[in-house]
Amino acid sequence: MNKVEAMRLLSKRILECRLCRLWENRTHAVPGEGNLDAEIMFIGEAPGRFEDLEGRPFVGAAGKLLTELVEGIGLRREDVYITNVVKCRPPGNRDPKPDEIRTCSPYLDEQIQIIRPSIIVTLGRHSTGYILSRVGISTTGISRVRGRIFKVSYPPGINVIVIPTYHPAAALYNPKIKDYLKRDFHLIKRCLSEVRREDKKIGLEKFL
Ligand code: URA
Repeated sequence: MNKVEAMRLLSKRILECRLCRLWENRTHAVPGEGNLDAEIMFIGEAPGRFEDLEGRPFVGAAGKLLTELVEGIGLRREDVYITNVVKCRPPGNRDPKPDEIRTCSPYLDEQIQIIRPSIIVTLGRHSTGYILSRVGISTTGISRVRGRIFKVSYPPGINVIVIPTYHPAAALYNPKIKDYLKRDFHLIKRCLSEVRREDKKIGLEKFL
């Protein structure tokens, strides 16, 4: 099955999902959006009010900042893939509960399998905790791991670079966090150049 069809079927399952309590209050589930061949995948926490209304990820104020940061490193929003660990809005924007993350995260795993990004950027502690825990790394807070590069194998056998950073919502009223985010995005840009150089080298070696 090709990627487009695989993602269409997965999104349909997400839109109809009733596996945890969050479906009861949602307007729309929010599967994610972007380029299915994206080199970079951004993973947030869960939809907020505007995302729930529109059925699209990161369309509110935090989304505007995320789009600016993506454009700041020379990419367009359409070049990357954007999703969340939890696909439905928790009431009142509360934190997702551990059982909600447990129930919903297999959808994220399937999305990663379909897209196979070279770089996964986790935005905030929930997506960072989830992705790093999947590769056996335990975290004690986002500030300890942000701006670091984790070269891991995920799904097993597939090399991927994980770069945790702050959630853009945390930067909206905190200039210090916004500075850290900008720095982390420069790191993302450097890693992307590196990945592209490696891919070109491998491509050439195959050709020679
Ligand atoms: N915050 C998130 O984590 N995800 C969204 O889609 C919007 C806000």
